[in-house]
Amino acid sequence: DEKITMRKFIKKKELKEKIVMITAYDTPFARIADKAGVDSILVGDSLAMVVLGMENTINVSLRTMIDHVKAVARAKPRALIVGDMPFMSYEVSSKQALKNASLMIKGGAEAVKLEGGEEIIEQVKSLVRAGIPVMGHIGLTPQRFLRLGGYRMIGKKPFEEEQLLRDAEALQEAGVFSIVVEYTLSEVARKITEKLSIPTICIGSGPYCDGQVLVLHDLLGLTEKPPSFAKKYADLSKIAEEAISKYASEVRNGIFPGKEHYT
Ligand code: KIV
Ligand code: NA
Repeated sequence: DEKITMRKFIKKKELKEKIVMITAYDTPFARIADKAGVDSILVGDSLAMVVLGMENTINVSLRTMIDHVKAVARAKPRALIVGDMPFMSYEVSSKQALKNASLMIKGGAEAVKLEGGEEIIEQVKSLVRAGIPVMGHIGLTPQRFLRLGGYRMIGKKPFEEEQLLRDAEALQEAGVFSIVVEYTLSEVARKITEKLSIPTICIGSGPYCDGQVLVLHDLLGLTEKPPSFAKKYADLSKIAEEAISKYASEVRNGIFPGKEHYT
């Protein structure tokens, strides 16, 4: 099957085909996700929490994000690779955003994702002018959890809903090819989806979006406290623990290494 491009991504909305996105942060899981046939792999800054064990996403660096983009790109997936711009790598100015987004692209990202709405329009326009596909991210924006007052649902208050709609339209106008809508009321996500010609990708915002995204480690049962909106499709923690326990016991009982493992 041929490469998923930004244009094919947009086309899926016209064709009313649901878009499937998942995060991945390394080569083996990028391979697995791609074999499973996802449309897009997000190298999310959720890396900070689900892989690096950090409390939040504030401290993951651009260099770390780029290393993981490179790891995913080495899998040469058919899926569109989106690199997440980490906290303070794009907020300062268009110049800063251009410099840092270009490093993500040079590392193998085929698009970048930025959190925010109207306040980052200048940055989005600069990236689009430079030929960099940009994905928006509105609703719960985890990089701003301090000012949001934690990881809470957005869009319950009328002013929040109005702001979300303004942000979505401003982003589309600025040239983003898609927008992640995180943890909003499902009705608000529906309104945004109906209003836009570009696809919306939901996480925790209900079924009325053009696509869905989940964090790989939540889906596979590798996170200790997954959010309520995530679905666990497998328990890899259990499978991995059992495998490692078996190894430990075989070493302790002299079963491993067996004849076939040494000369
Ligand atoms: O970092 C991430 O994984 C994300 C998704 C949850 C959209 O931004
Ligand atoms: Na993110």
